[in-house]
Amino acid sequence: MEAPLGRGPLPKAELHVHVEGAAPPDLVRRLAEKYSVDIGGLFNEDGGYDWQDFSSFLAVYDKASRLFRAPEDYALLSETYLRQLAAEGAIYAELTISPDHAAGAGLSYAAYVGGLAEGIERARAETGIEARMIAIGVRHFGAQAVERVALQVTGAPHPLVTGFGLAGDEREGHPASFARAFRIAGEAGLGLTAHAGEFAGPESVAAALDFLKVRRIGHGVRAIEDPALVERLAAEGIVLEVCPGSNLALGLYGALRFHPVNLLRRAGCRITLNSDDPPFFRTTLGQEYASCAEVFGWSREDLIAITGCAIDAAFCDDETRAALRRRLPAVPAQWQT
Ligand code: ADE
Ligand code: ZN
Repeated sequence: MEAPLGRGPLPKAELHVHVEGAAPPDLVRRLAEKYSVDIGGLFNEDGGYDWQDFSSFLAVYDKASRLFRAPEDYALLSETYLRQLAAEGAIYAELTISPDHAAGAGLSYAAYVGGLAEGIERARAETGIEARMIAIGVRHFGAQAVERVALQVTGAPHPLVTGFGLAGDEREGHPASFARAFRIAGEAGLGLTAHAGEFAGPESVAAALDFLKVRRIGHGVRAIEDPALVERLAAEGIVLEVCPGSNLALGLYGALRFHPVNLLRRAGCRITLNSDDPPFFRTTLGQEYASCAEVFGWSREDLIAITGCAIDAAFCDDETRAALRRRLPAVPAQWQT
């Protein structure tokens, strides 16, 4: 039986959060001490990550990632983040993982995924939160590197690694050059998603759909600049992993009221809410839900429908999806996205 709408913590789901980007500054400082590494330039005087623009964000992100050097460091990271999410009411999360970042810290793919999986299991045992991993290639590392990740992931299948994606600097590399990697991952049964329409324009979203055959897009918000593309997204049921706080922090929009998430939703696009790299952008999944509700007047039913959209689009098996669905209150049909 489905739970009543109720007033308890709103059930949430997150499809787009980079695990290295979820590292709490305190954990990074502890690891710097453990490995006796100088972290000058990493944090500002408030103790938060110190970056100014997308390029310096990526540089600080890479530097912090290099402090995760052992499977137990990653276990602690996934467990810490998922516990935090569960405390905000999340029932499901997909952690974006980057084997290239782990390799940069000297960690093999098996050790990386093994450590993260242990943290996921511990968080699930403690809180009931369900999680999967999406392995990504970093586009500014080049098409060969992205293909190497696809081969690594498909050559050593792990039950919790259920997706493949593309992140990094969207200004580099046309989607066509990553088509082979996506074909390898898709043929192995992995769910596919790609960052597009964050810094690059609507043409990047169309190209990701056409060349990478994805049914989910990371961000995708700049699709709003092309009405025909918005119609296509709605007609094809493409799911957008929208990260409003990230877009504001990186300067895409000046204030949440100018963010296109509400227009996209009203145009019939399937949208989900996500935090991307929460401590870097001083946000949390709970804050994303709360601020959108406040600014766009979204009701509890709207937010539950958004969580439902994420569960429907999740890269998990149907049995898990059905179990997650049963944890959602029933929402009348007019709220379904
Ligand atoms: N990697 C981590 N965060 C990212 C973002 N917002 N866009 C692209 N690549 C990323
Ligand atoms: Zn992202």
